[in-house]
Amino acid sequence: MCGIVGAVAERHVQEILLEGLRRLEYRGYDSAGMAVLSDDARLNRQRAVGKVAALENKLADAALKGTLGIAHTRWATHGRPSEQNAHPHQSGDSLAVVHNGIIENHETLKGELEAQGYVFTSETDTEVIAHLLSREFTLAQDLLQAVQRSVALLEGAYALAVVHRADPDAIIGARKGSPLVVGVGIGEAFLASDPLALLQVTDRFIYMMEGDVVRLSQGGSIELFDAGGERVERPTHIFEHGDGVTSKGGYRHFMLKEIHEQSQVIAATLEGRLGDHQVLVNSFGTDAEQLFRGVRQVHIIACGTSYHAGMVARYWIEKLAGVPTQVEVASEYRYREVVVPEGTLFVTLSQSGETADTLAALRFAKQRDYRGSLAICNVPGSSLVRESDLTLMTQAGPEIGVASTKAFTTQLVALMLLALALGRVRGANGEHAPIVQGLRELPGVINQVLALDGEVERLSMAFAEKHHALFLGRGAHFPIAQEGALKLKEISYIHAEAYPAGELKHGPLALVDSEMPVIAVAPNDELLEKLKSNLQEVRARGGELFVFADESIRMETSAHLHVLRVPAVSDALAPIVYTIPLQLLAYHVAVLKGTDVDQPRNLAKSVTVE
Ligand code: G6P
Repeated sequence: MCGIVGAVAERHVQEILLEGLRRLEYRGYDSAGMAVLSDDARLNRQRAVGKVAALENKLADAALKGTLGIAHTRWATHGRPSEQNAHPHQSGDSLAVVHNGIIENHETLKGELEAQGYVFTSETDTEVIAHLLSREFTLAQDLLQAVQRSVALLEGAYALAVVHRADPDAIIGARKGSPLVVGVGIGEAFLASDPLALLQVTDRFIYMMEGDVVRLSQGGSIELFDAGGERVERPTHIFEHGDGVTSKGGYRHFMLKEIHEQSQVIAATLEGRLGDHQVLVNSFGTDAEQLFRGVRQVHIIACGTSYHAGMVARYWIEKLAGVPTQVEVASEYRYREVVVPEGTLFVTLSQSGETADTLAALRFAKQRDYRGSLAICNVPGSSLVRESDLTLMTQAGPEIGVASTKAFTTQLVALMLLALALGRVRGANGEHAPIVQGLRELPGVINQVLALDGEVERLSMAFAEKHHALFLGRGAHFPIAQEGALKLKEISYIHAEAYPAGELKHGPLALVDSEMPVIAVAPNDELLEKLKSNLQEVRARGGELFVFADESIRMETSAHLHVLRVPAVSDALAPIVYTIPLQLLAYHVAVLKGTDVDQPRNLAKSVTVE
């Protein structure tokens, strides 16, 4: 939700900031802006509605020259996308700020500041911060102190970067509830919402902790202060994925590249975590075995696609470990009275590790009597990882496409490892060896499914003119159907819903006609015969059926029935495999419809606001 980048360099920073914004565009893309301090300490700003390219066009006509600046790409929360609401926000012509997050007490603060004579020109909560900083600077005559005093008055979530004409050598950054990293350069220093934004200038990063404030200044100086204002040192991490991750690598879209990376990243997620016939329980941390032994229940909390991964895990954990499991979306969980039976493990799933609702759910859970918390996450050093007792990192590498693909399938792999680990500590002895073997073979099976791309592309033509679609699955494939529907609606804007196939007759069947394509996920499992009966119900109503079926099933393409044969795979791992043709379907439909596949309208990859 909004991307921030800042640079204090030995060269002009406009290009560094622009490249940073392009790389952060996945976080929001309804408007963008930049403020740069010129050599004679004047604050110059450009803002534009739309994507970063619109800002780039403006800068091509009127470049911002200077060696220190901040920039922002926005995902609107307070106030519609407009130039006036775009960041940076200024207070007079002295101070500029960029902000990611939501200030919950902005109305109270605005009232106070207006009474003190500050004039507001936007509808954003961020402008409150600009004027507050300005007021505090007048009192403190020091930018660092002004930021420390101001953030103490803010309620809600923020990552900030601030510049002031009177302190022309420095950028001050602050974070609470929204991510911010410091990029360590040689004689230069940078700030960004995500290391990816800065890979063109450095691979060394300091992850700021909650409440930290940082002062970056000319010469590459980095001074960090904790929430109490004490000077602190934080470790510097080397970013290990390399810069290739931010290019499309010859693919038309990041999403397609990421779909095709799945075999490789699943192999990476399994690496070092499997013994000969068992999962290695200490992959979850040295304390995991002891902690898992006392687990009697599991609560899984997540949002969006990650929530669907959790739904699949419920089937696996109950079946393979015999442990009752509940799954809930984070934004609901955190606002209800939760009963926590003794021995309950709290599990969060998140690609980014910064999703505000998931993070708040973890903090809420930590106040309750859970046995421990486990985060399954894709971003090392993220807030969720830092605040959980145990972590299992997925190795998907950075995911740029807003619609999650490889992060989802690696989460599923990690969750299968969890189900097997819980089963193992509860005495499963050898009976899960075929699943362990199946996991080893999974990358190869994924490659076979990816080879179906051309066939899926042909099927996709039947969807381009449709307005609705229905996805059906049973058992652990119901959440896979939900994920298929979510992918289609996210990037093609076709309204799509998923149902457990057995529920069809209780309502959604009323919607079925020739204009409603029905997609069914049909692995060869114990529910197949029941699913086939459900599909007959669709055919009898003149529906157009698209069945993604195990290659061993006797079902042929015929009038109003399109069958896509999926390579045979064990029951346990089928949900991972069946995800892939659904991702490809959504992708090709979106391409046919000409939507913005990697950055679908109204969405953002990392939702760091509630
Ligand atoms: C956003 C993204 C989704 C993602 C969800 C949860 O809504 O657009 O693709 O599934 O956030 O994100 P997380 O990083 O916590 O998995």
